[in-house]
Amino acid sequence: MAQAEQSLKGRKILLIVGGGIAAYKSLDLVRRLRERGAHVRAVLTAAGRQFITPLSLASLTGNPVHEDLFSLTDETEMGHIELSRSADLIVVAPATADLMAKAANGLANDLASTLLLATDKKILLAPAMNVRMWHHPATTRNAARLRADGALFIGPADGEMACGEFGAGRMSEPLEIVDAVTQALQSETWIPLPATAAQNGSVLRGRRVVITSGPTHEPIDPVRYIANRSSGRQGHAIAQAAARAGAHVTLISGPVSIPDPVGVEMRKVETAQDMLAAVEAAMPADIFIAAAAVADWRVEGVGASKLKKGSGAGPSFKLIENPDILAHVSSLSAGRPALVVGFAAETDHLLDNARAKLARKGCDLIVANDVSTGTDVMGGTSNTVHLVSQDGVESWPLLDKDEVARRLVSKCAELLVEKTS
Ligand code: C5P
Repeated sequence: MAQAEQSLKGRKILLIVGGGIAAYKSLDLVRRLRERGAHVRAVLTAAGRQFITPLSLASLTGNPVHEDLFSLTDETEMGHIELSRSADLIVVAPATADLMAKAANGLANDLASTLLLATDKKILLAPAMNVRMWHHPATTRNAARLRADGALFIGPADGEMACGEFGAGRMSEPLEIVDAVTQALQSETWIPLPATAAQNGSVLRGRRVVITSGPTHEPIDPVRYIANRSSGRQGHAIAQAAARAGAHVTLISGPVSIPDPVGVEMRKVETAQDMLAAVEAAMPADIFIAAAAVADWRVEGVGASKLKKGSGAGPSFKLIENPDILAHVSSLSAGRPALVVGFAAETDHLLDNARAKLARKGCDLIVANDVSTGTDVMGGTSNTVHLVSQDGVESWPLLDKDEVARRLVSKCAELLVEKTS
C-alpha cells in the first residue's frame, strides 16, 4: 500500500462522471486514486446524477462536486476554464456514447462537454455503453476522431453487460483505469489499450515480434550522410501497439527524434547494414514487420576524413545497393517468421507496385501507402493504407498512425492464428 500511496502523489485529476450504470465503479475509482495520493475533483453530468449522488462523490473526493455550467457559486469559487486547466489529467469515466459524441464534435452545452473543449490537458476516456452502441459506426467515428485529437482510451472491456447482452462495452475496472492514469501521466508515447475483442491486451501474449522503424543514415564522410523523411512514427506506433497486445517486441530503429515506446526492447542503429545485423540478432520471431524506410543505396568507400570543397568540381560518389532486409527475412529457409509484413511507400501506381513488391520480396502482407506530395504521410501523423496480400486488397480510411498500428496488430494476430493453426 505504501508504494500505491506514492504512485500518484500530488497529481490532480479531474474526473467527469457520465450517465451510465458503470458510474458506481467511478466511486471506487475515486477511492483508488486518492489511496495513491492523487487529488480528485469530480464533475457529475445530469445523466450521471441518475446513477450516483453528488453527496457520495463529494464525500469520497473530499471536494465539492461540480454539476452546473451556469452555477454562480462555482464560477466565483473556481471558473470552469480554471477547473479544466488546473488538473494534470482529465478522466472521463464512464465515457458514454453521448459524451464521446459531444467531445468528438466540439459541442459545449453542459459543464462536462465545456470542460472537455476548454482544457489544454490530456483526456483519458473509459467508455461504457451497450455493445451495439460501441460498435455503431457513429461511435467508431467519434472514437477515431477523439484519438486523432490526442485523447487516450482505456477499454472498454468485453463481458456481460447490465442490459443482459454480451460483448465490448463494459467500463474497465477501477484498478485498470488507475494504471492507465499512471501511464498517461508518465509517458508521452503511451498508446491506450486497444478497444475491441480482437485487440485486447492478450492477443499476442507470448509471441515475439521484431519491427524495423525510422530512416537509415548512410554516411558520405564522417559528418555527412544520406537520409530520408521517415519520422519513425508508424513503426514506433506498431511496436507500442504490439507490446500493448502482450507481445515481446524488439524495435530496431534508425535515427529518429521521437521517444522510445514503452515496454519494448530497443535496438538503435544508423545504417542499413547495422539494421540487418540487428534484425538477424533479434531472430527468431513469430512476426517481422519492416516499417523502416531503409536507404536503398550507400556510398562505397567512405573515407575517414571530411570531404573538402575548393577543387571546383564537387565530389562524385559511387552508390552501391544496400541489403534488402525484408526480402532477406522473407527468404530465410530456417527460422522464417510465420508472418512477414512489409510496407510500400509509393508515389504512383500504388496497388500495382504493392502487388509487385509482395511477390518480389516474398512477404505475406504489404501495407501500401501513398506518399506523393501533399499526402503528408512521410513525417505526418495520419495515414491511408491498403493491405495487399495474396487474398486481395483491404483498404482502410484515413486514420491516425496509432489507429493504423492498432488495427495492423489486430490483423497480424488474426493472420498468425490462421497460419499457425
Ligand atoms: O523496396 P522498397 O524500399 O520500396 O520496399 C519497402 C519495404 O521493404 C519496407 O517494408 C522496408 O522496410 C523494406 N526494406 C528493407 N530493406 C531495404 C529496403 C526496403 O527491409 N533495403
